[in-house]
Formats: sequence, structure tokens, C-alpha cells
Amino acid sequence: MKHTAIVLAAGKGSRMHSDVPKQFLLLADRPVIYYALRAFEESFLDEVVLVTGEGQDAYCRKEIVEKYGFSKVKQIIPGGKERYDSVYCALRAVEDCDYIYIHDGARPFPDEDILIRARQCVEEYGACAAGMPTKDTIRIVDGQGVVKDTPERKYVWQMQTPQAFSYRLIRTAYDRLFEKGDFEGITDDAMVVEQMMSCPIRLFEGSYRNIKITTPEDIRLANAFL
Ligand code: CTP
Ligand code: MG
Repeated sequence: MKHTAIVLAAGKGSRMHSDVPKQFLLLADRPVIYYALRAFEESFLDEVVLVTGEGQDAYCRKEIVEKYGFSKVKQIIPGGKERYDSVYCALRAVEDCDYIYIHDGARPFPDEDILIRARQCVEEYGACAAGMPTKDTIRIVDGQGVVKDTPERKYVWQMQTPQAFSYRLIRTAYDRLFEKGDFEGITDDAMVVEQMMSCPIRLFEGSYRNIKITTPEDIRLANAFL
């Protein structure tokens, strides 16, 4: 069985308000994206496809993949405008695998235990995602900020990556998504599989350290974790 990771690093990082795209900001002298690539390099995964922004592939190859000897990175490909465009580019570039692990390059801390849980879960269920129970109470509000509903906290989980799928399932889901052309509300891969394949998604435990670098304070948090 072949296990392939897709590491996404083609975003613009607009919420970071930084000149350098957030996946290349430094954490302890190494770019953010280095940490996820290292986790996959040291794991059971067979191959990694790195998805980068336009004009960033030479930098990624030389300054990250070659420099740190990430031998599992077999392809560096350009992404697309939205996250789902980037994922679809990668899915079409990796036809010969059994399981796919899609990961945000902006999440530097997918540790070995998370990857092992992902593997166990995807081998059993075919479609799964990392998540953690929310610590804060979540409330649903209307357009005026008036609370409409309060979901029971123990049933509210924050989604993370990796999200792992059997290749056929996720590929068919994305083929259907792009045939339909309706991308309204799609923010992660589990949603694509749910909506296009009516397939249940199992959540497995990620970790509270498995944060996504999104806004400037996340860099400080990540440095503290390191
Ligand atoms: N991503 C991608 N291609 C895109 C958009 C996002 O590969 N067209 C990747 C990002 O690089 C990131 C991950 O998807 O690793 C999660 O996306 P997000 O945190 O939203 O990153 P950005 O889109 O870069 O940030 P922002 O939404 O603040 O602009
Ligand atoms: Mg985004």
C-alpha cells in the first residue's frame, strides 16, 4: 500500500499581513514549511507532493527540499487560486497511490502520533480528519450578533489537518466537485467527500499544538512550542 502526503503551501497568507508568505516565515531559523515536511520525512509515508505558489518552486527545491535533504518530496507543483484548486492540482499529479494525507503547510506540528492515528483511521474507514474538542463554548449568531443557538460543547470539534482518504474516494469527490463547479462554503477536504460522496468522516485526535499559522500571534505561539 502506498501512502502519499500532499503538503499545501500555495496560499497568500493574507491574514498574516506579512511581506513574506507565512509558510516561509522563520521559526527558530527554519521556514514554517520545513517542520511539516520533516514530520512527513521521518514518518511511514512513502512520498510527499509539495504544492507551492507561482514562482516559488525554485526557492522551495533549493532552499528547503535540497538543503534539508527531504528525499520523500518527489514532486513540487504549482497550486491554484483557492485551496481546493491547489488540492485538485496535487490529486491529479499523484495517481498511483492508495492513501492520501492532505496537510496544510502552515501547520508545523503534525507529530508522529497524529500521523499514526491518521493511518489507522484511514485504513479502517477510508475518510478521516484530525480534530480536537473545542475549549471555548461556540455559539451560532445571526447577522446582528444575537445568539441563535448553542451547540453542546462536547459535540463541537475544531478541524485540523492531516485529513486522510483512500485515493479513489477523494479523487472521485474532487472530480465531481469540479464537474459541478459549485464551491460555495468549501473550506476543507472532508467537506468535499461528505458533500460529493455522502460519505461519513471519522475524526481522530489531532493535538492542541497542531495549530495553523494564520495571524501574527500564531508565530509567537509556534516559537513557544518549539
Ligand atoms: N493554500 C494553498 N493554496 C491556496 C490557498 C491556501 O495551498 N490557493 C494552503 C495554504 O498555503 C495553507 C493551507 O492551504 O498551508 C491553509 O490555508 P490558509 O491557512 O487559509 O492559508 P492562506 O490561504 O495562505 O491564508 P489566508 O486565508 O489568510 O490568505
Ligand atoms: Mg486561505
